[in-house]
Amino acid sequence: MMTPRKFRKTIYDFYRANGRDLSWRKTRDPYHIFISEVMLQQTQVESAIPKYERFIAAFPDFKALSRAPLRKILALWKGLGYNRRALYLKKAAEAVMREHGGVLPRDAEKLLELPGVGRATAAAICAYAFNEPVVFIETNIRRTFIHRFFPEQEDVPDNELLPLVARMLDRKNPRRWYNALMDYGAMLKKRYPNPNRRSRHYTKQKPFEGSDREIRGKILEILLRKPEQSRRAIQAALEVDKKRIERCLAGLVQEGILRYAQRFFTIT
Ligand code: ADE
Repeated sequence: MMTPRKFRKTIYDFYRANGRDLSWRKTRDPYHIFISEVMLQQTQVESAIPKYERFIAAFPDFKALSRAPLRKILALWKGLGYNRRALYLKKAAEAVMREHGGVLPRDAEKLLELPGVGRATAAAICAYAFNEPVVFIETNIRRTFIHRFFPEQEDVPDNELLPLVARMLDRKNPRRWYNALMDYGAMLKKRYPNPNRRSRHYTKQKPFEGSDREIRGKILEILLRKPEQSRRAIQAALEVDKKRIERCLAGLVQEGILRYAQRFFTIT
């Protein structure tokens, strides 16, 4: 078994030579870290960078975000996909204002209670905003550990990786460590057939083209252009089966992104 010392050297050597200079690494502002981590949940780094810059310029803190109309947040979210996250962000900002006096808690368990924040996001915030020695797995970390420690094994479960993540962690500088680890994992994805396909928890993102996600995005675009739309107007604007449109509209209403009243859809 590779020693922590040797493994850390591999990762840090790579990082010194190839580390990425990402916008959210230039800040320790918990709000900025929070926004970047929610964006990075399901969006590639390259697509997240310009959106992140614009987002924090438009909504500089929890207070501003909590007061922003959802349609303004969605307008900036356009192109990032999984637009439910835009609503979660607003709700999380409201909770931070209401329950934490506008200050993001340092504690992963408290962070987990915020809408749209799961284990990996809560831990990443603790590491990047507060330099806490948390142990967690996300896609880049998983790829790195499978590649280095399970080169031959199929169906690797996270519970076999977690003790290794804990053992290898640089507790003196978790922030730097996880930056380095994620950069190493991102490199692996480019250089090798994705080691995560050997993870028990691997699920590939479905193609966007022709998906309900794409239709949902188009419906929101229609409503961003004109705030009130009838079902017929939405149907007329999309060359898509009515049943699918209906399913997407129902989902958006159910999630609280759209409201339907007096035969018109609006963004909530
Ligand atoms: N994925 C999730 N968090 C990330 C981060 N901070 N940097 C790069 N990729 C990430």
